[in-house]
Amino acid sequence: MIKKEINIAFEEFESINKLEEKDQLLCKEAVKALENSHSPYSKFRVGVAVKLASGKIIYGSNQENVAYPSGLCAERVALFAIGANYPDDEIVSIAITAQTNEFNILQPITPCGSCLQVMAEYEKKQSKEFDIFLYCVNGPIWKVKGVNNFLPFLFFEDRLNKG
Ligand code: THU
Repeated sequence: MIKKEINIAFEEFESINKLEEKDQLLCKEAVKALENSHSPYSKFRVGVAVKLASGKIIYGSNQENVAYPSGLCAERVALFAIGANYPDDEIVSIAITAQTNEFNILQPITPCGSCLQVMAEYEKKQSKEFDIFLYCVNGPIWKVKGVNNFLPFLFFEDRLNKG
């Protein structure tokens, strides 16, 4: 038996004003995206802003449904909209934030496994990693470079090849 380890890396910033100005702006756009969250069931709003190489900002927010599994996370709402509408634009960075009236969120919200898998697909498609900012309004901000730092064992296309 050989024990193996994988290290993942991310940066922590104590507040938004410690980020580069362009990243501060994207985090603030993610807060705007919260307004369109449809989350009557969880009462947990998630907002996402994605910056494209063209300069466009695409927004996403969680969209819940009375048939619970039919809803979708904010990250995939934004990424699928980009895939469908701006397939040739490049994703540069993503900011994700969350808000609820039920309690104070004091730690960054990390994307679910399905959203990470979808992010990985678009990174692979554009052959370039993007920066992911987890913006906690009342706590630290994490900057993660590339989905690999979240999900080192993600499902790769190569796994579909038998030979
Ligand atoms: N949610 C997101 O939109 N993104 C995440 O990264 C985690 C969870 C949503 C799904 C659901 O509408 C609510 O948050 C509670 O799980």
